Amino acid sequence: MDPLTALAQFESEGLAAIAAATDAAALEQVRIQFLGKKQGRLKDLQSVVGKATPEERPVVGKRFNEAKDRVTEALEARLNEVAKPKIAATAIDLTLPGVPTDFGRLHPLTQTMREFREIMARFGFEVVDGPELEDEPHNFNALNIPLDHPARDPLDNFYLAAACTAHGKPVLMRSQTSTVQIRVMEHRPPPVRVISIGRVYRPDDIDATHHVMFHQMEGLMIGPDVTMASLKSVLKMFAAAYLGGDTEVRFRPSFFPFTEPSVEVDVRWKGGWLELGGAGVVDPNVLQAVGYNPEEVGGFAFGLGIARFCMLRHGIDDIRLFYQNDIRFLKQF
Ligand code: DAH
Repeated sequence: MDPLTALAQFESEGLAAIAAATDAAALEQVRIQFLGKKQGRLKDLQSVVGKATPEERPVVGKRFNEAKDRVTEALEARLNEVAKPKIAATAIDLTLPGVPTDFGRLHPLTQTMREFREIMARFGFEVVDGPELEDEPHNFNALNIPLDHPARDPLDNFYLAAACTAHGKPVLMRSQTSTVQIRVMEHRPPPVRVISIGRVYRPDDIDATHHVMFHQMEGLMIGPDVTMASLKSVLKMFAAAYLGGDTEVRFRPSFFPFTEPSVEVDVRWKGGWLELGGAGVVDPNVLQAVGYNPEEVGGFAFGLGIARFCMLRHGIDDIRLFYQNDIRFLKQF
């Protein structure tokens, strides 16, 4: 066979074999078969080229290099080609940056409430719950709130439409967690040592410190020797546990229908005093309303705003942030 025909055959068969190979291993076989240095068709062709006459030699030599280059290039191109679809087929490119996993976390108020429960449990307080939809006896009457008291004003409460009443009596979203005091005392004899944490509702203009729905922690302790002194130590210990041991607590005389005497509880904050809630010694009328004997037992009660504590500890200056579900805010806790 003349050298040019042999070279043409080498080239066309080489290109065909390359095109037919479907993976890198097959291509390697083709490489060995056609371009292998020790044995292989190109090596055989070298001797054919060597036999060319001196006149033929330049043409044959040029053609030899051409055929060799074409087969080599085609092989490389095909190698790249078979490599690519593999990645596409498995759809995994290990060189790509990963998708970051975002961990959820608890809402700052939820965290605060959990911590409150834990602190109060250490002081021996049991956690109880009450309904958010209440009737007037629990929200007002049993708490010694007279019929003409401004706290009952329909404009200051979320009363439900007349159609939604309990046994023909008006119902409202509770305006204070003090309702739970009554529900507990109605059902169990003294002694009592409970807290209840939950939502309360009041129509209000929403601003940085007010919302129409907020959270309170109610506390109630009833027993033979429970006094104002017990109230003060429990609240001081509580503030110290949550806000730090050096937190200064102040009790200011106040008035609530269900306590006598009543106090307002403040903590020292940035040079001023910040109000956290109300408290006092349970009024004998309240004890009587639930069937307790005020001659035998007494007690204290308190109702604290949850958000206030959380805002103090974390330097949050707007209560609305808690309810906007802005991930940039929530992520920080
Ligand atoms: N219920 C009151 C309020 O919502 C807070 C409060 C004051 C609760 C005195 C109490 C208490 O238990 O003894 O403003």
